[in-house]
Amino acid sequence: MTAHRTLQVGDEVRIRPPRNNFQLIENAEHSVFIAGGIGITPIFAMIQRLEKLKRSWELHYSSPTRRRAAFLAEFEALEEKEGGRVHFHSDDEHGGSIMDLRPILGTYRAGSHYYCCGPSGMIETFESLTGGFPAGSAHLERFSSDVPLSTAGSFEVEFRRLGKSVRVHEGETILQAAINAGADVAFSCEEGVCGSCETAVIEGIPDHQDLVLSKHEREANRKMMICCSRSKTPKLVLDL
Ligand code: FES
Repeated sequence: MTAHRTLQVGDEVRIRPPRNNFQLIENAEHSVFIAGGIGITPIFAMIQRLEKLKRSWELHYSSPTRRRAAFLAEFEALEEKEGGRVHFHSDDEHGGSIMDLRPILGTYRAGSHYYCCGPSGMIETFESLTGGFPAGSAHLERFSSDVPLSTAGSFEVEFRRLGKSVRVHEGETILQAAINAGADVAFSCEEGVCGSCETAVIEGIPDHQDLVLSKHEREANRKMMICCSRSKTPKLVLDL
């Protein structure tokens, strides 16, 4: 819904509480943050929280130029308070080279949690370098997806609470089929990055195409993002 176009004074709207797909683990022994460009926004808030809690952290922050970096004065103040925690990389000061994540993520440090928010190339490198880290220790946030979504193939979906079964056709998403069937389902991005449409899977194996679930969550097949994911089995039963 485009609220600014359609809402009128006195209209009633139903809202849900905000979701947090990039949750700070406040009791981690140490937190390692990797931020690129605008990706510093959530990370700055997380660092402020850890400062308040007096927890250990370090930041690796990259920006194309120093001028385009946000919160530099704030991070300089944090460095003055306790040095060695903020590592800033400006691409133009390194001949255009981007920040190398391998020395930062080469080895898992016990008790640490790792966070990344930034451009897609940085996130992909982070995912690949932390792939062998313990489950739940690496966290990332994307703002959008540049992965093309497939709507190929057709399969049956049973919406268990609704008591309806429908066929999801090629070119149609499960989300669209659910709305057409009358299900009350939340959604936002429709490209598998926000997590709003997360739905519990009762039976069947999803073909996950989202960028929200972790590797372990995908393998468990207990939940799926119905705006973009499909089915590996002829039928899915969903808790809708
Ligand atoms: S609506 Fe955002 S993940 Fe499905």
